[in-house]
Amino acid sequence: MYFASKRQDLPFPGVFGLFAAFIMACGTTHLLGAVTLWQPLYWVDGAVKGATALVSVPTAVALWYLLPRALALPSPAQLETANRNLLREIEEHRKTELQLREANLLLDERVRARTALLQSILDTVPDAMVVIDASGIIESFSSTAERLFGYGADEVCGRNVAMLMPPSYSEEHDRYIERYIRTRERRIIGNVREVSGQRRDGTVFPMELSIGEVLHADRQLFTGFIRDLSERRRANDRLQELQTELIHVSRLSEMGQMATMVAHELNQPLTAITNYMNGGVRLLESEGDPRARLREAMERSAAQALRAGRIIKRLRDFVSRGEIERRFEPVSALIAEAAELASLGIRQKDLLIEVDHVAPDAAILADRIQLQQVLFNLLRNAAEAVAEQEQRSVAINARLDGSDVVISVIDNGPGISPEVQDRLFQPFVSTKENGMGVGLSICQAIIVAHDGRIWAEANPAGGTIFRIVLPRVQDTEKT
Ligand SMILES: Nc1ncnc2c1ncn2[C@@H]1O[C@H](COP(=O)(O)OP(=O)(O)OP(=O)(O)O)[C@@H](O)[C@H]1O
Ligand SMILES: [Mg+2]
Repeated sequence: MYFASKRQDLPFPGVFGLFAAFIMACGTTHLLGAVTLWQPLYWVDGAVKGATALVSVPTAVALWYLLPRALALPSPAQLETANRNLLREIEEHRKTELQLREANLLLDERVRARTALLQSILDTVPDAMVVIDASGIIESFSSTAERLFGYGADEVCGRNVAMLMPPSYSEEHDRYIERYIRTRERRIIGNVREVSGQRRDGTVFPMELSIGEVLHADRQLFTGFIRDLSERRRANDRLQELQTELIHVSRLSEMGQMATMVAHELNQPLTAITNYMNGGVRLLESEGDPRARLREAMERSAAQALRAGRIIKRLRDFVSRGEIERRFEPVSALIAEAAELASLGIRQKDLLIEVDHVAPDAAILADRIQLQQVLFNLLRNAAEAVAEQEQRSVAINARLDGSDVVISVIDNGPGISPEVQDRLFQPFVSTKENGMGVGLSICQAIIVAHDGRIWAEANPAGGTIFRIVLPRVQDTEKT
């Protein structure tokens, strides 16, 4: 009993109590067996024997019940082995944990390196990056974006991306995303578009936007790459200004060349007017009724005055700089005017420019003065090319080609000289003694600005053909 009470970890402590009671009862039975030799205490002996029997029954039952379990209890040797195994397992576990921690550190390091790399790329690309979620809320804002828009990332993250757009765009934006998610119809995603952005200070600027789509941890995100176009736009404007300036200057120099021709040309109507007037005076002084002939003389002189006026007006139009203005222009009228203008400016009096109206209803959207400048330059080049020919021929015509208008200037000169062939449209390329070499470069600049093309080809009949292709507009598209 003492042992059982001291060893608290003992399994089945109850059975120890039963054993103790059984041993005590047995011992007492034997002791009383000896005592009854001298004293006849049979009743006591009987009672103790009964008690022993009573204790032995539960002890036997308990043993019967506990024996398989007691057998299952590990022996100290077994416990020792188990213990050793356990220690080894613990050691292995510790090692694995250490390895795992090292691998984790390595992974962390790699992720950090990759993130840093990505960040440095995002920081150095000229594009700003803004990531938004499906409801337009800003998730991330690169440092370039911070510089571009003037907001810090912490100020914009969590707010709607509409704050980066002028109000006219921002209202549409939510609808764009909503429609995309609903229809999956790609209007902007995957494309590059030019839109407007708004900086913190309220200034609106042109920007190029390309949007990509990412699925991140089951969430749909949109990444916007933004490029500031202000600088490019400014450079373009400057170029445009310079070009306009160049065209203007070249027109002025043409003017100088044309001045003598114009003086001569104006002389004709003026002389005619003077003659009609003198004739009229003589008619008034003569006998009879001069009215019918006087009327005719006056009408003719009025027509000549109008002609002189037209010549001056055309010249003024040609020289004045004016804003570039595109209008609906019938091509045949453009060609006729340019041919007339060229006839004035060309020194060879007996050269006739043949105008061929193949497509009388062809029309283009053009700045009339600029287009005249082009045709004038081409016709002047053609006239200069044929100057030395015996049979001189310069012709201009227009024809339709699908949705285009093709204007051709044809001469029978010597053809393009091989030394300038490849650089024809570059400025300051000339084979002429007094040529500046800017005519064709101006032509090209103007035609390209009108969404057209210009090139030279050899004339099968000898000489050169310059062709201009411009998009045709229909009467209904008039602006
Ligand atoms: N119809 C043509 N036939 C042959 N050569 C031509 C013709 N048109 C142009 N060229 C060649 O192309 C060159 C460049 O022409 P461009 O009109 O640009 O300059 P340019 O006529 O020499 O000088 P300008 O600045 O006075 O027009 C000419 O010098 C000439 O050699
Ligand atoms: Mg020229």
